[in-house]
Amino acid sequence: RGFSSSISPIGCRCGERGSACDRAKVLVEVMERVSARIPAKINLSLSVGPLRSDGYHEIMTLFQAISLFDDVVVSRSDVEQIEISGSYTNGVPANSENLAVKATHLVMREYGIAEKLSIQIKKEIPVAAGLAGGSADAAGALLATDALFGSEIPKARLMQLASELGSDVPFSLTGQTALGRGRGEEITPALSRGEFHWVLGIAAHGLSTPAVYSECDRLREGMNVAPPRISEAVMHALLSGDAENLGKHLSNDLAPAALSLKPALRMVLDVANEYAALGSIVSGSGPTIAILARDEEHAIDLAVALSASGVVSNVARAIGPVPGARIIDSK
Ligand code: C5P
Repeated sequence: RGFSSSISPIGCRCGERGSACDRAKVLVEVMERVSARIPAKINLSLSVGPLRSDGYHEIMTLFQAISLFDDVVVSRSDVEQIEISGSYTNGVPANSENLAVKATHLVMREYGIAEKLSIQIKKEIPVAAGLAGGSADAAGALLATDALFGSEIPKARLMQLASELGSDVPFSLTGQTALGRGRGEEITPALSRGEFHWVLGIAAHGLSTPAVYSECDRLREGMNVAPPRISEAVMHALLSGDAENLGKHLSNDLAPAALSLKPALRMVLDVANEYAALGSIVSGSGPTIAILARDEEHAIDLAVALSASGVVSNVARAIGPVPGARIIDSK
């Protein structure tokens, strides 16, 4: 590890740039490479309100971060580059369209840094699956770039930058279980007890989030859309760690739209039912189906049954809640 000998390249975060503040004159560790690990999310409840004038829908959702992770490594480099590896690489842009690249640029713009970075993403979160995989990568890149430059962006500002990148990115930073309001970016932690066991039915081809929201609008045409709300029952089930009760209260207003665009998803819900799942739900805009099991053993049985049924292309098991984006290595 190297240490710079005088002033932090970015000055102090109090707002006084460079030498104006004495706190800027500290020894700053110069990182070469920082790795972050970020979880996928599922939506235990997703209530979609009216379409806003900015093109987003007012929503209220209960997010839970689950133990399926992408890793994002950000390094100083002579050339700007991005490399994608892992189980799910199809459809991930390996260029400046990638949200992780945009995240590194946002952090550098914030502090007037112009450096070339190399980004490596190991994707274990399925793509366009309703699991916030792209948002996870953006959150990981934000955190890793911040650590790389020692910029220590205040948490509130980091959350703002995250919401500029996408509605689900702030939650990818915080993880655990949380309520999302607005377009999903206003995060309030929610109390949850114990551990829940999930089985994910993953489709071969993803669904585009805007397409699912548009289909939702089409299906609701002419209807009076109420403001979004989350039921007391689901909050209570979480608070008491009651998986059986949680299973009964999973809900998603985007499910009819996802099922309309991908009718075969019904077969996944049927298999979950047949094997006594506590509940099953389309995650976010889908097409992943999140299936709640009683315990680990039941989750294994469900996963085996779902694989054998052939109605999904992949099956994963995960527990939730887990923490949000975190640094796992730096040098
Ligand atoms: O925020 P993000 O870029 O992930 O959103 C992608 C698209 O999903 C939006 O452009 C919009 O079409 C739709 N969306 C929405 N209402 C939300 C979140 C997303 O209509 N609350």
